[in-house]
Amino acid sequence: MERLGDSKMTCVLERKAQIKTNKHLTDHLYVMELIVEDIPSLVLPGQFVHVQIPGMEGHILRRPFSVYHTKQSENKLTILYQIVGFGTQKMTTLGAGDTVDVMGPIGHGWTIPATCQSALLVGGGVGAAPLYMHAQELYKADVSVDVVLGAQTEAALVCKDRYEALLGQSVPCSTDDGTYGYHGFCTDLVSKSLDKRSYDYVACCGPEPMIKAVCAITLDRGIPTFVSLEKRMACGIGACLSCVVETTNGLKRSCVDGPVFNASEVIW
Ligand SMILES: Cc1cc2nc3c(=O)[nH]c(=O)nc-3n(C[C@H](O)[C@H](O)[C@H](O)COP(=O)(O)OP(=O)(O)OC[C@H]3O[C@@H](n4cnc5c(N)ncnc54)[C@H](O)[C@@H]3O)c2cc1C
Ligand code: FES
Repeated sequence: MERLGDSKMTCVLERKAQIKTNKHLTDHLYVMELIVEDIPSLVLPGQFVHVQIPGMEGHILRRPFSVYHTKQSENKLTILYQIVGFGTQKMTTLGAGDTVDVMGPIGHGWTIPATCQSALLVGGGVGAAPLYMHAQELYKADVSVDVVLGAQTEAALVCKDRYEALLGQSVPCSTDDGTYGYHGFCTDLVSKSLDKRSYDYVACCGPEPMIKAVCAITLDRGIPTFVSLEKRMACGIGACLSCVVETTNGLKRSCVDGPVFNASEVIW
């Protein structure tokens, strides 16, 4: 296997992946299943893949996507993506049998604190996807897991059914416009959950303002909190410094030192 760079946990591979399905979910959201050798069995929760989208000759940069889930027996890796610009729009035009070039797995994923017994996972919008494999590993490790999801509107609420099937319980949801669940921000649901019971670990992924607001609550209560930051990236392998995050330990490259960071170390 050729090595492209180090993500400290695993080596980064480059592989041709064949699209198995590319389904429109709702709103601007799609889910893409890729069949690709080696990478699915190496992915750790929280890591991402860097995808070269065909037909984008004028746009040489790859696009990073967190791995939503994998099925190793089928060499399958699934990503959930939302259309925000040219690349993601182009992705929607791809179909079964098309190939994309994938680099991965990349980055430092989630770390379960050694003494963790109860965890709260908070996902905003498409940020629910990078937390799903983490929920699976926490559940397997006998950690009591609760999940809170938030989105702008019902159509942007994703992964709820999958989380409920995994955890065997309903997942509190919020929508900014009140079209589903609690009418308001998911930070209100986070505060309610923390008032109800104690958690010794919080993991969060979503839009940066939401992450900041969640961290303000959880760090104030002294709860170890880890966040997955989606900084704009270029090389994805630690070489270009386009993705730096300021931390109490100096500047860190989000692609290889993150994307998951200890929230108490991030200088927002
Ligand atoms: C580690 C990591 C994991 C990610 N995981 C997912 C995922 O699972 N699902 C998903 O839908 N998206 C994810 N993203 C974001 C995704 O990479 C971008 O949405 C995508 O690269 C945009 O490409 P584009 O060509 O469509 O947009 P462009 O045409 O390049 O940009 C369009 C608009 O999107 C904004 N944008 C582009 N990249 C980002 C970014 N990284 N963060 C915030 N805004 C951005 C630009 O500022 C611009 O306003 C992740 C990003 C990172 C860094
Ligand atoms: S994207 Fe180049 S260093 Fe992170």
